[in-house]
Amino acid sequence: MDTSEVRRRFLNYFEERDHTVVPSAPLPSPDPNLLFNVAGMAQFVPYFVGQQTPPYPRATSVQKCVRTLDIEEVGKTTRHGTFFQMNGNFSFGDYFKEQAVQYAWDLVTKSQADGGYGFDESVLYASVYYEDDEAIDIWKRVAGLPDDRIVRLGMKDNFWSMGIPGPCGPCSEILIDRGPQYGADRDWEAGDRYLEFWNLVFMQNIRGEGGNGKEGYPILGELPKKNIDTGLGLERVAYLLQGVDNMYEIDEIFPVIEKASELSGRKYGADQIDDVRFRVIADHVRSALMLIGDGVTPGNEQGGYVLRRLLRRSIRSMRLLGYEDPSLVELLPTSLEQMKKSYPELEADFPRISQVAYAEEEAFRRTLTAGTTIFDLAVKNVKAEGAVQLAGNQAFQLHDTYGFPIDLTVEMAAEQGLRVDTEGFRSLMKEQRDRAKADARAKKAGHADTSAYRELREKGVTEFTGYDELATDSQVRGVLRDGAVAGAAEQGETVEVVLEKTPFYAESGGQIADEGLIVGDGFKLKVLDVQRPVKGLIVHRVEVLEGAVQAGLDVHAQVDKEWRISACQAHSGTHVVHAALRQVLGPTALQSGSYNKPGYLRLDFAWSSGLDQATRSEIEEVANLAVRQDLSVSAQYMSLPEAREWGALALFGETYDDSVRVVEIGGPWSRELCGGTHVKHSSQVGALTVTSEASVGAGVRRLEAFVGMDALHYLGRERALVRLLSENLKTRPEELPAKVADLSERLRVAEKELEKVRAGQVLAAAAELAKAPKDVFGVAYVGHRAPDGVSGGDLRKLAIDVRGRMPLDKPAVVAVLSVNDGKPAVVVALNDIAREWRLKAGDLVRTAAEQLGGRGGGKDDVAQGGGTDPAGSDKALSSVEHAIGHLVTGG
Ligand code: SER
Repeated sequence: MDTSEVRRRFLNYFEERDHTVVPSAPLPSPDPNLLFNVAGMAQFVPYFVGQQTPPYPRATSVQKCVRTLDIEEVGKTTRHGTFFQMNGNFSFGDYFKEQAVQYAWDLVTKSQADGGYGFDESVLYASVYYEDDEAIDIWKRVAGLPDDRIVRLGMKDNFWSMGIPGPCGPCSEILIDRGPQYGADRDWEAGDRYLEFWNLVFMQNIRGEGGNGKEGYPILGELPKKNIDTGLGLERVAYLLQGVDNMYEIDEIFPVIEKASELSGRKYGADQIDDVRFRVIADHVRSALMLIGDGVTPGNEQGGYVLRRLLRRSIRSMRLLGYEDPSLVELLPTSLEQMKKSYPELEADFPRISQVAYAEEEAFRRTLTAGTTIFDLAVKNVKAEGAVQLAGNQAFQLHDTYGFPIDLTVEMAAEQGLRVDTEGFRSLMKEQRDRAKADARAKKAGHADTSAYRELREKGVTEFTGYDELATDSQVRGVLRDGAVAGAAEQGETVEVVLEKTPFYAESGGQIADEGLIVGDGFKLKVLDVQRPVKGLIVHRVEVLEGAVQAGLDVHAQVDKEWRISACQAHSGTHVVHAALRQVLGPTALQSGSYNKPGYLRLDFAWSSGLDQATRSEIEEVANLAVRQDLSVSAQYMSLPEAREWGALALFGETYDDSVRVVEIGGPWSRELCGGTHVKHSSQVGALTVTSEASVGAGVRRLEAFVGMDALHYLGRERALVRLLSENLKTRPEELPAKVADLSERLRVAEKELEKVRAGQVLAAAAELAKAPKDVFGVAYVGHRAPDGVSGGDLRKLAIDVRGRMPLDKPAVVAVLSVNDGKPAVVVALNDIAREWRLKAGDLVRTAAEQLGGRGGGKDDVAQGGGTDPAGSDKALSSVEHAIGHLVTGG
């Protein structure tokens, strides 16, 4: 049974039983404590904890998940995949244990002809939380399982939470016995023989911080209602039903293994180490496809880093299989062919997805070249010290700066007979990760602990009045100091204030927060920042300018009008530029992020090559024409499917509510899902000028622009600059380009002349040098350090010239060296008799280059080399002399 069929049957089964089919949430997790969604229930957390009223009592979904804790295990076991899909059925205070067990058992055991999965009942087991007698009773009654096929397990196995504070509960799993070839009788721990494939969580508790991820955390209490959250491992069921050994061999994944085998010429199943590589490739390519599809782009932090690592591990694994050419161009389309059956949107988006992936591969290939030089140097130093271990910080630098995965460094070091201090490396990585995590948390929530915000949020949503008015009479709901609810705050303090309703826009959707004042009887607050740390709660960070503020007081909240007008200009300007971009470049140039503040905007979009001046001007032209046409700007609310039908653009990775706000400029010309504030007519945006366009990562470009008066000021500054240049160069502005071109041409010619003169001087030394060779055991040797800056070509000319001037009846060796831009280069030339004496230029140049921290080689009569360490120059020349003596005397 195809994986897509396993999926279809699941959704059908539960839809027929009154479950609303809910689409998967995007992979990036909205929770700052998690990078990616790791379970189907993640998007329903607010319903479980009673923070929001569920719009339906029952739901079913197939959630895209990525778990990366076990990335090193991928390919080594049969069940670890980074990307996987979890089929789930959910009840929000509707049915509970008995009904959940009944549904699961029915679907699992119902014959395939009747729409079920048709598993053989006699090999199925159930595990339950050790003290859950009720569950045991249900399994006996509903499924008819005998006692010896029900196992009681502890908290680690049969109590489920997301690994962080939140909803949790005891669970019960369905296991299948795959037979003695997979492990010992009744060994539940190992996991391969008794494979669990469906987890039924009886979601009824709430947990706190602590424990080791799976157990040992405190249970804080009960949820308002008893819920059901189940998760069926789609890939697991697929491989069980497809009669293959592991998840990498299912229809959705295996074709990539076949492709990798075809490219590399190696066979899957022939060698254990190669097999792991094949599986890593197939798993990682698929995960990368899905992550990029959900808007993740390769980067050095957070989710972007995970994606980068997946791509690089797969590219490197292809190399280890002996395939050195770009491989994603073959593998990614193969993965797409399979995945589009369940995710047709990937196909339409593939031009963008592939651009991002291929650009990353290209970058990594360059990195591999640069990193290898650094690696070689590090190895040389370690060896020179007589040590056998590469330090952790060197491995970390290779990783951090050159993107070398640690296993790459370890493997390359092993080839040189060295170990790597992986402990040291890991502790540096951990430091970096902790820093990144702390940053992310601080950025998203102001404080890692959001419980005080939740407490205030429980009193209701803070209404945003700022679409319609800039001043609102309101009341202080609460004051927070350092993330905790506090009493009064006095003059001079900086605290956070929550109002019942507010006209202040909280930073989101790329638009920065409003500025302004909140005033009350005897006090005045200056608004410094406005954020929404938890959904539905607007929090103002304020400085108390006068008096004291506390909960319950009446206030007048007043947004700075000038600020807001400019903010609206910038945000509408962003939409205008986005629409213009897509009009000029095509629909794949989709925004992946944006930021705007009064007078300025920037927009990141999916595109992998730079835009030439003509294209930039065209975008600017289209944008300014749209401003001039005075298009009307309007916002309306509708359901997400309706908005999609309308073609409204949504940002990747965002989770949207059921009712979304669509902002239009000129009707269909620009339609975006957006909660921001906007002008009423496009003409109010004013002038728009694009100031820069550059790469900000693989496949992502950033365009910056000024809007309104700031655009005019920018143009004014440019005009002043042109005037200054034309005064200095004494030419009319329109003749500046010709003048500059003329100047640089003349400079180029002069530099060439100078070079010739310099080379002439260097070569002029030839006659002198040839006159005074040193006698080294009968060999006439000239070792000469030329002035700095002589090019490799001139050095070669010099060596050959000196050789030509030396007596022909005697062996002669010439070695000349020069340091150019801090890099030493050396050329060795020798005559025929020297070669008869068994001297070789290639050998001698290698000896010299070693002293320079580099390499060299060439023919027997002339060879050249170089290195990175100019300090070794003198030694390099004397080493050639020693080598001659050594070779000639045979010592
Ligand atoms: N949340 C549970 C799990 O991830 C069941 O969906 O296993």
